[in-house]
Amino acid sequence: MSEQTALKHVGRNDPCWCGSGQKYKKCHLDSDKQREQPRAATLRPARTAHSSRPLSNTLREGSGIKTPTQIAGIRRAGRLAARTLDMLTERIVPGVTTEQINTWVHEFTLQAGAIPAPLNYKGFPKSVCTSINEVVCHGIPEDRALREGDIINVDVTPILDGYYGDSSRMYLVGQVSPAARRLVEVTRQCLERGIAQVRPGGHVGDIGHAIQTFAEGHKFSVVRDFVGHGTGVQFHEDPQIPHFGRPGRGPVLVPGMVFTIEPMINAGGWPVRILEDQWTAVTADGSLSAQFEHTVLVTEEGVEILTQ
Ligand code: MF3
Ligand code: CO
Ligand code: CO
Repeated sequence: MSEQTALKHVGRNDPCWCGSGQKYKKCHLDSDKQREQPRAATLRPARTAHSSRPLSNTLREGSGIKTPTQIAGIRRAGRLAARTLDMLTERIVPGVTTEQINTWVHEFTLQAGAIPAPLNYKGFPKSVCTSINEVVCHGIPEDRALREGDIINVDVTPILDGYYGDSSRMYLVGQVSPAARRLVEVTRQCLERGIAQVRPGGHVGDIGHAIQTFAEGHKFSVVRDFVGHGTGVQFHEDPQIPHFGRPGRGPVLVPGMVFTIEPMINAGGWPVRILEDQWTAVTADGSLSAQFEHTVLVTEEGVEILTQ
Protein backbone atom coordinates (compact mmCIF):
# COMPACT_ATOMS: atom_id res chain seq x y z
CA MET A 1 0.00 0.00 0.00
CA SER A 2 1.30 3.42 -0.92
CA GLU A 3 2.05 5.87 1.88
CA GLN A 4 0.52 8.60 -0.24
CA THR A 5 -2.79 6.96 -0.91
CA ALA A 6 -5.10 9.64 0.45
CA LEU A 7 -3.09 12.48 -1.06
CA LYS A 8 -3.19 10.81 -4.43
CA HIS A 9 -6.91 10.09 -4.54
CA VAL A 10 -8.43 13.11 -2.80
CA GLY A 11 -8.20 16.69 -4.09
CA ARG A 12 -7.52 19.52 -1.60
CA ASN A 13 -11.07 20.82 -1.98
CA ASP A 14 -12.78 17.42 -2.10
CA PRO A 15 -14.73 16.24 0.93
CA CYS A 16 -12.30 14.48 3.28
CA TRP A 17 -12.15 10.71 2.91
CA CYS A 18 -12.95 10.32 6.65
CA GLY A 19 -16.57 11.36 6.16
CA SER A 20 -16.39 14.50 8.30
CA GLY A 21 -17.99 16.58 5.56
CA GLN A 22 -15.10 19.07 5.74
CA LYS A 23 -12.78 19.80 2.86
CA TYR A 24 -9.76 17.51 2.73
CA LYS A 25 -7.37 20.45 3.21
CA LYS A 26 -9.15 21.46 6.45
CA CYS A 27 -9.31 17.92 7.80
CA HIS A 28 -6.80 15.12 7.18
CA LEU A 29 -4.51 16.66 4.54
CA ASP A 30 -1.91 17.75 7.08
CA SER A 31 -1.85 14.49 9.00
CA ASP A 32 -1.68 12.50 5.75
CA LYS A 33 1.29 14.62 4.67
CA GLN A 34 3.05 14.03 7.97
CA ARG A 35 2.50 10.31 7.47
CA GLU A 36 4.79 10.42 4.45
CA GLN A 37 7.75 11.31 6.64
CA PRO A 38 7.04 9.78 10.00
CA ARG A 39 9.27 11.35 12.66
CA ALA A 40 9.01 10.64 16.35
CA ALA A 41 7.63 14.12 16.94
CA THR A 42 4.78 13.62 14.49
CA LEU A 43 3.75 10.23 15.83
CA ARG A 44 0.85 11.50 17.83
CA PRO A 45 -2.76 10.41 17.52
CA ALA A 46 -4.70 11.88 14.62
CA ARG A 47 -7.83 13.80 15.58
CA THR A 48 -10.72 13.88 13.19
CA ALA A 49 -12.87 16.95 12.70
CA HIS A 50 -15.92 15.22 14.14
CA SER A 51 -14.18 13.78 17.19
CA SER A 52 -11.62 15.32 19.52
CA ARG A 53 -10.84 11.85 20.87
CA PRO A 54 -7.47 10.40 19.88
CA LEU A 55 -8.41 7.33 17.85
CA SER A 56 -5.39 5.19 18.62
CA ASN A 57 -1.73 5.17 19.46
CA THR A 58 -0.02 6.08 16.22
CA LEU A 59 -0.78 8.53 13.50
CA ARG A 60 -1.26 5.88 10.85
CA GLU A 61 -3.61 3.82 12.96
CA GLY A 62 -5.72 6.80 13.90
CA SER A 63 -6.34 7.87 10.33
CA GLY A 64 -8.86 5.15 9.50
CA ILE A 65 -6.51 3.88 6.78
CA LYS A 66 -5.38 0.45 7.93
CA THR A 67 -1.72 -0.56 8.03
CA PRO A 68 -0.57 -3.78 6.32
CA THR A 69 -0.29 -5.42 9.77
CA GLN A 70 -3.85 -4.46 10.63
CA ILE A 71 -5.11 -5.64 7.25
CA ALA A 72 -3.48 -9.05 7.74
CA GLY A 73 -5.19 -9.34 11.14
CA ILE A 74 -8.59 -8.27 9.83
CA ARG A 75 -8.23 -10.75 6.95
CA ARG A 76 -7.71 -13.58 9.47
CA ALA A 77 -10.72 -12.48 11.52
CA GLY A 78 -12.73 -12.16 8.30
CA ARG A 79 -11.83 -15.71 7.21
CA LEU A 80 -12.95 -16.97 10.59
CA ALA A 81 -16.29 -15.18 10.15
CA ALA A 82 -16.72 -16.91 6.78
CA ARG A 83 -15.88 -20.36 8.19
CA THR A 84 -18.35 -19.75 11.05
CA LEU A 85 -21.13 -19.01 8.54
CA ASP A 86 -20.09 -22.07 6.46
CA MET A 87 -20.38 -24.25 9.56
CA LEU A 88 -24.06 -23.29 9.89
CA THR A 89 -25.10 -24.12 6.32
CA GLU A 90 -25.92 -27.79 6.89
CA ARG A 91 -27.18 -27.23 10.42
CA ILE A 92 -29.93 -24.67 9.79
CA VAL A 93 -33.00 -26.87 9.26
CA PRO A 94 -36.60 -26.86 10.55
CA GLY A 95 -36.77 -27.41 14.32
CA VAL A 96 -33.43 -25.79 15.19
CA THR A 97 -33.74 -22.90 17.68
CA THR A 98 -31.89 -19.60 17.36
CA GLU A 99 -30.49 -20.34 20.85
CA GLN A 100 -28.89 -23.46 19.34
CA ILE A 101 -27.37 -21.32 16.54
CA ASN A 102 -26.03 -18.98 19.23
CA THR A 103 -24.36 -21.91 21.04
CA TRP A 104 -22.81 -23.23 17.80
CA VAL A 105 -21.42 -19.80 16.89
CA HIS A 106 -20.21 -19.07 20.42
CA GLU A 107 -18.35 -22.37 20.76
CA PHE A 108 -16.90 -22.30 17.23
CA THR A 109 -15.58 -18.77 17.87
CA LEU A 110 -13.93 -19.65 21.21
CA GLN A 111 -12.52 -22.86 19.72
CA ALA A 112 -10.73 -20.70 17.11
CA GLY A 113 -9.21 -18.53 19.83
CA ALA A 114 -11.56 -15.60 19.13
CA ILE A 115 -14.27 -13.69 21.01
CA PRO A 116 -17.79 -13.04 19.67
CA ALA A 117 -18.03 -9.23 19.42
CA PRO A 118 -21.84 -9.02 19.80
CA LEU A 119 -21.81 -10.53 23.32
CA ASN A 120 -22.35 -7.65 25.78
CA TYR A 121 -21.80 -5.08 23.01
CA LYS A 122 -23.85 -2.10 24.23
CA GLY A 123 -25.81 -4.61 26.29
CA PHE A 124 -26.57 -7.10 23.48
CA PRO A 125 -27.14 -10.37 25.40
CA LYS A 126 -25.97 -13.01 22.87
CA SER A 127 -23.00 -13.94 20.66
CA VAL A 128 -24.72 -13.62 17.27
CA CYS A 129 -27.67 -11.85 15.66
CA THR A 130 -30.41 -14.10 14.23
CA SER A 131 -33.04 -12.26 12.21
CA ILE A 132 -36.03 -14.28 10.95
CA ASN A 133 -38.50 -13.26 8.19
CA GLU A 134 -39.77 -9.70 8.97
CA VAL A 135 -36.85 -9.09 11.34
CA VAL A 136 -34.52 -6.63 9.58
CA CYS A 137 -31.48 -7.04 11.88
CA HIS A 138 -30.29 -7.44 15.48
CA GLY A 139 -32.63 -10.35 16.25
CA ILE A 140 -31.77 -11.90 19.65
CA PRO A 141 -31.33 -15.69 19.80
CA GLU A 142 -34.08 -17.37 21.86
CA ASP A 143 -35.96 -20.63 22.29
CA ARG A 144 -37.90 -20.26 19.07
CA ALA A 145 -37.68 -23.11 16.61
CA LEU A 146 -37.19 -22.40 12.92
CA ARG A 147 -40.06 -23.51 10.72
CA GLU A 148 -40.15 -24.79 7.18
CA GLY A 149 -40.34 -21.77 4.85
CA ASP A 150 -38.57 -19.30 7.17
CA ILE A 151 -35.68 -17.17 5.93
CA ILE A 152 -33.04 -16.21 8.48
CA ASN A 153 -30.03 -13.93 8.54
CA VAL A 154 -27.14 -14.90 10.79
CA ASP A 155 -24.65 -12.09 11.49
CA VAL A 156 -21.31 -12.99 13.10
CA THR A 157 -18.34 -10.87 14.18
CA PRO A 158 -15.38 -12.68 15.71
CA ILE A 159 -12.59 -10.65 17.34
CA LEU A 160 -9.35 -12.51 16.57
CA ASP A 161 -6.10 -11.12 18.03
CA GLY A 162 -7.92 -7.82 18.52
CA TYR A 163 -9.21 -7.55 14.93
CA TYR A 164 -12.85 -7.67 13.81
CA GLY A 165 -14.38 -9.48 10.83
CA ASP A 166 -18.09 -8.71 10.27
CA SER A 167 -20.22 -10.82 7.91
CA SER A 168 -23.74 -12.15 7.53
CA ARG A 169 -25.67 -14.45 5.21
CA MET A 170 -29.23 -15.61 4.60
CA TYR A 171 -30.24 -19.23 5.11
CA LEU A 172 -33.39 -20.87 3.71
CA VAL A 173 -35.16 -23.17 6.14
CA GLY A 174 -36.43 -26.20 4.21
CA GLN A 175 -38.64 -25.36 1.23
CA VAL A 176 -39.12 -21.59 0.90
CA SER A 177 -41.71 -19.68 -1.18
CA PRO A 178 -40.60 -18.32 -4.57
CA ALA A 179 -41.27 -14.74 -3.34
CA ALA A 180 -38.95 -15.15 -0.35
CA ARG A 181 -36.28 -16.82 -2.48
CA ARG A 182 -36.43 -13.94 -4.94
CA LEU A 183 -35.95 -11.39 -2.15
CA VAL A 184 -32.93 -13.32 -0.87
CA GLU A 185 -31.38 -13.60 -4.34
CA VAL A 186 -31.91 -9.91 -5.14
CA THR A 187 -30.36 -8.97 -1.78
CA ARG A 188 -27.34 -11.19 -2.49
CA GLN A 189 -26.92 -9.37 -5.81
CA CYS A 190 -27.32 -5.99 -4.10
CA LEU A 191 -24.26 -6.79 -2.01
CA GLU A 192 -22.35 -7.97 -5.11
CA ARG A 193 -23.21 -4.83 -7.03
CA GLY A 194 -22.26 -2.63 -4.09
CA ILE A 195 -18.89 -4.36 -3.80
CA ALA A 196 -18.32 -3.98 -7.56
CA GLN A 197 -18.36 -0.18 -7.09
CA VAL A 198 -15.44 -0.16 -4.65
CA ARG A 199 -12.25 1.30 -6.14
CA PRO A 200 -9.74 4.00 -5.12
CA GLY A 201 -10.98 7.42 -6.16
CA GLY A 202 -14.59 6.23 -6.13
CA HIS A 203 -17.13 7.58 -3.64
CA VAL A 204 -19.19 6.03 -0.88
CA GLY A 205 -22.30 7.23 -2.74
CA ASP A 206 -21.44 5.00 -5.72
CA ILE A 207 -22.01 1.93 -3.54
CA GLY A 208 -25.40 3.00 -2.21
CA HIS A 209 -26.57 4.13 -5.63
CA ALA A 210 -25.80 0.76 -7.22
CA ILE A 211 -27.62 -1.08 -4.45
CA GLN A 212 -30.64 1.21 -4.39
CA THR A 213 -31.10 1.17 -8.16
CA PHE A 214 -31.01 -2.62 -8.31
CA ALA A 215 -33.29 -3.18 -5.29
CA GLU A 216 -35.88 -0.60 -6.36
CA GLY A 217 -35.75 -1.96 -9.91
CA HIS A 218 -37.15 -5.15 -8.40
CA LYS A 219 -39.82 -3.17 -6.49
CA PHE A 220 -38.08 -3.79 -3.18
CA SER A 221 -36.97 -1.08 -0.75
CA VAL A 222 -33.66 -0.25 0.97
CA VAL A 223 -33.61 0.16 4.75
CA ARG A 224 -32.46 3.66 5.75
CA ASP A 225 -32.00 3.29 9.51
CA PHE A 226 -29.00 0.94 9.42
CA VAL A 227 -25.88 1.37 7.30
CA GLY A 228 -22.53 -0.28 6.65
CA HIS A 229 -19.56 1.00 8.63
CA GLY A 230 -15.81 1.16 8.94
CA THR A 231 -14.58 -1.81 10.95
CA GLY A 232 -11.49 -3.85 11.79
CA VAL A 233 -9.92 -2.26 14.85
CA GLN A 234 -13.21 -1.41 16.52
CA PHE A 235 -16.61 -2.99 15.78
CA HIS A 236 -18.06 0.19 14.29
CA GLU A 237 -15.81 2.90 12.88
CA ASP A 238 -16.19 5.74 10.40
CA PRO A 239 -17.20 6.10 7.66
CA GLN A 240 -20.88 5.20 7.43
CA ILE A 241 -21.82 3.32 4.24
CA PRO A 242 -25.48 3.93 3.32
CA HIS A 243 -27.08 1.41 0.96
CA PHE A 244 -28.81 4.23 -0.91
CA GLY A 245 -27.41 7.42 -2.37
CA ARG A 246 -26.06 9.24 -5.37
CA PRO A 247 -22.98 8.52 -7.45
CA GLY A 248 -19.99 10.79 -6.86
CA ARG A 249 -21.27 11.86 -3.42
CA GLY A 250 -19.88 11.10 0.01
CA PRO A 251 -16.33 10.39 1.14
CA VAL A 252 -13.68 9.36 -1.40
CA LEU A 253 -12.52 5.74 -1.26
CA VAL A 254 -8.84 5.39 -0.47
CA PRO A 255 -6.63 2.25 -0.44
CA GLY A 256 -6.37 0.84 3.07
CA MET A 257 -9.96 1.68 4.03
CA VAL A 258 -11.85 -1.26 5.52
CA PHE A 259 -15.63 -1.17 5.85
CA THR A 260 -18.72 -3.32 5.65
CA ILE A 261 -21.42 -3.32 3.01
CA GLU A 262 -24.56 -4.88 4.45
CA PRO A 263 -27.73 -4.01 2.55
CA MET A 264 -31.04 -4.72 4.29
CA ILE A 265 -33.72 -5.05 1.61
CA ASN A 266 -37.45 -5.20 2.36
CA ALA A 267 -40.17 -6.76 0.22
CA GLY A 268 -42.48 -3.89 1.30
CA GLY A 269 -41.62 -0.41 2.56
CA TRP A 270 -38.34 0.64 4.16
CA PRO A 271 -39.54 1.94 7.57
CA VAL A 272 -38.55 -0.19 10.54
CA ARG A 273 -39.72 -0.45 14.14
CA ILE A 274 -37.71 -1.52 17.18
CA LEU A 275 -39.31 -4.06 19.53
CA GLU A 276 -39.57 -3.74 23.34
CA ASP A 277 -36.25 -5.53 23.79
CA GLN A 278 -34.63 -2.35 22.34
CA TRP A 279 -32.70 -4.40 19.75
CA THR A 280 -34.91 -6.35 17.34
CA ALA A 281 -35.63 -4.25 14.25
CA VAL A 282 -38.65 -5.37 12.22
CA THR A 283 -40.26 -4.03 9.07
CA ALA A 284 -43.02 -1.57 10.03
CA ASP A 285 -45.40 -3.20 7.53
CA GLY A 286 -44.56 -6.78 8.51
CA SER A 287 -43.07 -7.57 5.09
CA LEU A 288 -40.09 -9.91 4.66
CA SER A 289 -36.54 -8.52 4.92
CA ALA A 290 -33.19 -9.95 3.83
CA GLN A 291 -29.53 -8.99 4.34
CA PHE A 292 -26.03 -10.06 3.32
CA GLU A 293 -22.83 -8.50 4.69
CA HIS A 294 -19.14 -8.56 3.81
CA THR A 295 -16.18 -6.66 5.19
CA VAL A 296 -14.14 -5.24 2.28
CA LEU A 297 -10.77 -3.56 1.78
CA VAL A 298 -10.11 -0.80 -0.76
CA THR A 299 -6.95 -1.83 -2.64
CA GLU A 300 -4.82 -0.02 -5.25
CA GLU A 301 -6.45 -2.31 -7.83
CA GLY A 302 -10.02 -2.10 -6.56
CA VAL A 303 -11.43 -4.24 -3.77
CA GLU A 304 -10.69 -7.32 -1.72
CA ILE A 305 -13.43 -9.14 0.18
CA LEU A 306 -11.97 -9.92 3.60
CA THR A 307 -14.81 -12.18 4.80
CA GLN A 308 -14.60 -15.07 2.38
N1 MF3 B 1 -22.96 -7.26 13.23
C1 MF3 B 1 -23.83 -6.09 13.25
C2 MF3 B 1 -23.33 -5.20 12.13
O1 MF3 B 1 -23.26 -5.66 11.04
C3 MF3 B 1 -23.83 -5.38 14.53
C4 MF3 B 1 -24.48 -6.16 15.62
S1 MF3 B 1 -24.44 -5.24 17.05
C5 MF3 B 1 -25.11 -6.32 18.15
O2 MF3 B 1 -22.96 -4.07 12.28
F1 MF3 B 1 -24.92 -5.82 19.30
F2 MF3 B 1 -26.38 -6.50 17.87
F3 MF3 B 1 -24.49 -7.48 18.04
CO1 CO C 1 -21.68 -4.64 10.17
CO1 CO D 1 -22.66 -7.69 11.03
